[in-house]
Amino acid sequence: MLSKTIENALNDQIRIEAESSQIYLAMACWAEVKGLEGIANFMYAQSDEERDHMLKLVKFVNERGGHAHISELKAPDVTFESFKDMFELLYKHEVFVSGSINELVHITLQEKDYATHNFLQWYVSEQIEEEAMARTILDKINLIGDDKGGLYLFDRDIENLTVSTAAQDTGGE
Ligand SMILES: [Fe+2]
Ligand SMILES: [Fe+2]
Repeated sequence: MLSKTIENALNDQIRIEAESSQIYLAMACWAEVKGLEGIANFMYAQSDEERDHMLKLVKFVNERGGHAHISELKAPDVTFESFKDMFELLYKHEVFVSGSINELVHITLQEKDYATHNFLQWYVSEQIEEEAMARTILDKINLIGDDKGGLYLFDRDIENLTVSTAAQDTGGE
């Protein structure tokens, strides 16, 4: 059984994951209408992943005697100067999410809720991977600079960029 404090904290995280999904969906649209198909497909996949993160929390809350709250979502701001800008925002957003997961883990310890603490370890690992992937992408973008041919190749290759290939690129981090 979840305490009210934990239930509320998990519901806050449900909203954050849902908003992440919305933000990445908006990024996918931004890239798609610019003809950056690879980037768009990559962002559609990221959006789906965030929805999965949300659903996993929803199920956990409901199964543990709480009630998952599906709330209204903020419309994402999608005015990017460049695709580099967009990926910088993605990185910053993942860092923000990691902070929120850490806070949640901290609350479970305060509440002595070891079941939820255990459940959240998956999110802790996931955030390490997602931050690493976002950093790898930014490194690649910095290498490309203003080179149009580089952008073409980046757009082509990003679809194959998964968490595991990103980790290989950064030396197995
Ligand atoms: Fe997430
Ligand atoms: Fe994420």
